[in-house]
Amino acid sequence: MEPLNFDWGNLPFGYQKTDYNLRCYYRNAKWGEIEISSSEYLPLHIAATAIHYGQQAFEGLKAYRGKDGKVRLFRWQENAKRIRNSAYGIMMPEIPEELFYEMVVKAVKMNARYIPPYGTGATLYIRPLLIGSGARVGVKPADEYLFMVLVTPVGPYFKEGFKPVSIEVVRDIDRAAPLGTGRYKVGGNYAAGMRAGERAHEGGFASVLFLDALEKKYIDEAGPANFFGIKDNTYITPQSESILPSITNMSLEQIAKDLGLKVERRRVPFEELATFEEAGACGTAAIISPIKKIKDHTTEQTFEYGEEAGPVSTKLYNRLREIQEGTSEDTHNWITVIEGI
Ligand code: PLP
Ligand code: COI
Repeated sequence: MEPLNFDWGNLPFGYQKTDYNLRCYYRNAKWGEIEISSSEYLPLHIAATAIHYGQQAFEGLKAYRGKDGKVRLFRWQENAKRIRNSAYGIMMPEIPEELFYEMVVKAVKMNARYIPPYGTGATLYIRPLLIGSGARVGVKPADEYLFMVLVTPVGPYFKEGFKPVSIEVVRDIDRAAPLGTGRYKVGGNYAAGMRAGERAHEGGFASVLFLDALEKKYIDEAGPANFFGIKDNTYITPQSESILPSITNMSLEQIAKDLGLKVERRRVPFEELATFEEAGACGTAAIISPIKKIKDHTTEQTFEYGEEAGPVSTKLYNRLREIQEGTSEDTHNWITVIEGI
């Protein structure tokens, strides 16, 4: 294998071709054999439900190269559970946990030369994807599905890395309805948010912050990440049925407790933004992105949290990364070491 000549420290969060991806079809109500592919393309029926009716769901997790050279997955069981839930939400078949794990591990191992070295800030992003591949013209679930796992080396989602970003509150576009698909990781949610996201980028913001679609009174989440605020030694994060249950956020709630903070998951009124000492966006891709400014696109009301990351966000970020990279003890059993690479 040719050695890779990447500038690991400056990788964007983008697609980079790797050597292999894995595929498995669900036909006649059962999962088939795992297939290895070196093609970046799919043979897809022109009437596949994924491309007409959005019958598709995905996941995002990372393989982390540790200081000790070992490669770790972080809470992959939660991603397996969430894609099962997403599949349930839009009438797709369940992916057995063992199949999910086997394909994730195989995809990482077969592309091991793309796992970024420790200390570069880059990681191998793993993208499991489940699509309706069977043909339908009527609006009905497909009778055939394809589960794929692809990997690609990435840098931080927000180019600023762990530097505070500005985000924009959006009131005139909703990402998801209260009883809609917001809690599932399905492509339609991201399509629904794209216009708002691009407008925010054009205005110099790293991301948007959605409010609850029903009343526009409460904070929901950022485009690709959950939201948290810090005040009075408390980690506060929105409770909402239309946001994605973030595994990073769940983990930060636990880490916050471990660090002696109180944790509140509850509705977070918009006005409360004025009271936070620190604010941040969190997710697998974003890790923690501290927020320096939140501006309401409609009213232009602005909240500021400082040009530098706050002390609590910094502690949370450091502990999370240390666990993922194996330099802090894994007291909650979150880590799976991939043996043999
Ligand atoms: N919210 C949205 C809309 C996301 O796309 C993501 C990314 O997966 C998250 C939150 C963060 O979730 P997690 O921490 O599980 O990656
Ligand atoms: C992730 O954090 O894994 C995501 O999926 C966010 C984004 C790239 C959609």
